Amino acid sequence: MSNKKTILCIGAGYVGGPTMAMIAKKCPDYKVIVADINPQRIAEWNSDDLPIFEPGLDEVVKAARGKNLFFTTDVTSSIKEAYIIFVSVNTPTKMFGHGRGKASNLQYWEKTARSILTYSEDDKIVVEKSTLPVRAADAMGKILHSNTKGLRFEVLSNPEFLAEGTAISDLEKPDRVLIGGMETPSGKAAVQALVDVYAHWVSKENIITTNLWSSELSKLVANAMLAQRVSSINSISAFCEKTHANITEVSRAIRSDSRIGSKFLNASVGFGGSCFKKDILNLVYLCEHYNLPEVAEYWEQVVKMNDYQQNRFVMRVLENMFNTVADKKIAIFGFAFKADTGDTRESPAIYVSKMLHEEKARLAIYDPKAMKEAKHDLADLDQSLIEYCNCPYEAAKDAHAILILTEWKEFKSYDYAKILGLMTKPAFIFDGRNILDHEALFEMGFNVFPIGKTPLSHLT
Ligand SMILES: NC(=O)c1ccc[n+]([C@@H]2O[C@H](COP(=O)([O-])OP(=O)(O)OC[C@H]3O[C@@H](n4cnc5c(N)ncnc54)[C@H](O)[C@@H]3O)[C@@H](O)[C@H]2O)c1
Repeated sequence: MSNKKTILCIGAGYVGGPTMAMIAKKCPDYKVIVADINPQRIAEWNSDDLPIFEPGLDEVVKAARGKNLFFTTDVTSSIKEAYIIFVSVNTPTKMFGHGRGKASNLQYWEKTARSILTYSEDDKIVVEKSTLPVRAADAMGKILHSNTKGLRFEVLSNPEFLAEGTAISDLEKPDRVLIGGMETPSGKAAVQALVDVYAHWVSKENIITTNLWSSELSKLVANAMLAQRVSSINSISAFCEKTHANITEVSRAIRSDSRIGSKFLNASVGFGGSCFKKDILNLVYLCEHYNLPEVAEYWEQVVKMNDYQQNRFVMRVLENMFNTVADKKIAIFGFAFKADTGDTRESPAIYVSKMLHEEKARLAIYDPKAMKEAKHDLADLDQSLIEYCNCPYEAAKDAHAILILTEWKEFKSYDYAKILGLMTKPAFIFDGRNILDHEALFEMGFNVFPIGKTPLSHLT
């Protein structure tokens, strides 16, 4: 028999791990189990060296682990034991068959639905935590209700809005928690059961309940809108470079308009992360499926603009380094897709590195947290042209250029005079995140190429 106060999360990734750790911390009256088919990941969650880096995560996990928080590979008995089951498995872009390159690959998600169906011995609430196409809950419901055991499953949508790098504070003080359910008496009761969990620490006004489809769609729209702001400001950064307008000044002028708001308006080498691109492409695919070509085209442009920005960045490096980087050492500062995470999924650094590798550059990579991931991401390149460095000074030694690809705070505090002394001259800095003091670097002797601003170059 399952226990009403036992929660299971299937999928111990960037979402499942931190989310469940927070629920365990805030709900000591619940037992929380996180199950995954990857034994190495589970062993890491049970060790002192957690599988993901996230500020504040260690403390939250260590406080609850072994008390009311458990990590296991035993999916089967966990399903039997839990009443509320979150599904937080990966839903990457499908890379084969129909919908290839846009639709979500739902194979992992469907496998979990079938495991729940096979191993359940009584009624359950199944919560979609993964980001899914609109109406996925309909398919989930159909799979679960194909059971011949007479069991009842209520499917809820509870998308996760945490951002990597700030996951713990986002979970502790979410702008909102969104729960979608069927508008039937049993659907409403299931929604209430999940509201009761979050109400342990989230105020009632910040728990939004909707119908299932609105909840599923809202997650895709939230990511599409955030990415659209980044692509919008990046498109203007290209314009600034042609006209001597300054993207930081333009951004400041527009963000002070309260109708526009201040966030997600920093120009950069482009957005990355496992979600933005895949979720927009999923939205595009769904729009095409529902015969809304104009809507599909509108959102697809957000992804195209991001590709353009990454490509433009590399072309700028090439053009300003006398149209060749072959056999030149290029230091890459930052490989994670954003600061305060070791995650490199869809990181612009991968794209930039691969393009420079094609140009036969020698790459020297340094990231404070993502070195293991960088090695994995670049494993198929000629390793004799890549150095993985223990510190930024090692990466900069004899380099012709430094590329800033992640906005790690520590990059601002380096001794750039010392770095300049180590480099081949003329020395270039291409600041893909606009985080350094460009004037100061120029005064030192660097040729500085920010995004969306006039370069500060000694060569013109
Ligand atoms: N990463 C984010 O910032 C973020 C934010 C919000 C939403 N999401 C969404 O959350 C979902 C999970 O993302 P993630 O970044 O945590 O992915 P992830 O790849 O880090 O983790 C997914 C985990 O699911 C496990 N898994 C796959 N199939 C399984 C099965 N049948 N049984 C048990 N475990 C299984 C995998 O082994 C893996 O450890 C995705 O849909 C994603 O779009 C992610």
